[in-house]
Amino acid sequence: MESKMEIFGGRPLKGSVEAQGAKNASLPVMAAALLLKNNTLRITRAPDLLDVNTMADLLRNLGAEVTFSNHEMEIRTPEEISWETPPDLVRKMRASSLVLGPLLARCGKAVMPLPGGCSIGSRPIDLHLKGLTKMGASIELVHGAVHASTKGLTGCRIYLDFPSVGATENLMMAAVFAKGETVLENTAREPEIYNLAEALKSMGAKIEADGMGGIRIQGVEGLNSAEARIIPDRIEACTYILAGAATNGEVTVTGVIPNHIDSLLAKLEEAGANLTVKESEVTIHPSPRLKGVSLKTLPYPGFPTDLQPQIMAALCLAQGTSLIQESVFQSRFLHVSELNKMGARIDIQNNSAVVTGVDALTGADVAATDLRAGAALVIAGLAAHDTTVIYNLEHIFRGYEKIDEKLLQLGASVRVTSNPAVAEAGDRHDARRSSSCR
Ligand code: EPZ
Repeated sequence: MESKMEIFGGRPLKGSVEAQGAKNASLPVMAAALLLKNNTLRITRAPDLLDVNTMADLLRNLGAEVTFSNHEMEIRTPEEISWETPPDLVRKMRASSLVLGPLLARCGKAVMPLPGGCSIGSRPIDLHLKGLTKMGASIELVHGAVHASTKGLTGCRIYLDFPSVGATENLMMAAVFAKGETVLENTAREPEIYNLAEALKSMGAKIEADGMGGIRIQGVEGLNSAEARIIPDRIEACTYILAGAATNGEVTVTGVIPNHIDSLLAKLEEAGANLTVKESEVTIHPSPRLKGVSLKTLPYPGFPTDLQPQIMAALCLAQGTSLIQESVFQSRFLHVSELNKMGARIDIQNNSAVVTGVDALTGADVAATDLRAGAALVIAGLAAHDTTVIYNLEHIFRGYEKIDEKLLQLGASVRVTSNPAVAEAGDRHDARRSSSCR
């Protein structure tokens, strides 16, 4: 049966939820475990998400042993692992490309289908490949797959044309065993980058990050067992804060790191929201109707592109007009047509959206096109004064753990049919390939 979420909206959310561990920190930290040989990486506060379980399947397919329960994960890679990634899993999740750097560093080889584009743009990995080539990898594209190999990577200076999160992570991991020093410049500065760096350092890597886009890595011989704790998911936390704003409710999100979400808090205050910020929790209180604001998505610490659909949903009900510019992805506006079906008034001009505030949204049948677009539809549905049905829920459960339960905890009227997150775990990928390395 098709998965769907029914929301009977129009009531202010009230209550408190705890932030999950960050999806976008968990995925690179899991990939980093491939750098271990006969050692174990223990990860705490890992969120139980479709994407995290897909990464676990990918690592199992490469030969790792992965156990995961109650937000605690253990990844052990044996003496020998495969360096050929399974196309079906790579196509399922772009973040699979994060195994490229670790496999090259550990095995000197990697075969990986190019990750496809998705609903938010083409999403190439040219910056990843350019950096790896400069470190001494030879890269060939064969039938849409990256065939990478090296006799040993060598440290060098790499300036990233764009502060790509994934390229920063892949190159940091590739540099761990490289000969000499690697200096990465103009890197991404998202909190998830530093979570990965801390995890690698706990495993014995020599990494220094200056917090301003410079990262130095001294090559080492090998890494050891370690434990890594995942930071709170700043995007999930802000999604619930924005749901509170859109329903004029009183929502507290606990277990957060407030300075990771400064850009959203500042924008909400500019729009007139009443917020209380404590050491590890943020509360949004009932506020006068939000005022329209302007924003442009930027790499961290700028306003995050991963919150653009969600804040757009909240600003649909603001007093006045908002201008939202998307500068990180080519086309991240597929949620606009779905929001307009709910009575929103949004016009797209190039890579900007002009949102004219309306007094109310109405329920509709809408479809999630990607993770954050789905989250925007949830926010709009919670605010709309009747029933909204959201289809293609698998997008939402890729990044929001137990979102239905958390919304019920906040007093929402929500029902999920055939929850994709609880579907059979499916066949775990244990097939080992001949392409393995020690
Ligand atoms: C990470 O994706 C996140 N995913 C994304 O979150 C997030 O939107 C993005 O960073 C930006 O913050 C994970 O961390 C798993 P990028 P990533 O490389 O690494 C272009 C979510 O909703 N680019 O910083 O793929 C690219 O096309 C997801 O949780 C190149 O042109 O993002 C995009 O326009 C969605 N060449 C821009 O840079 C490259 O080699 C940012 O991409 C790499 C990227």
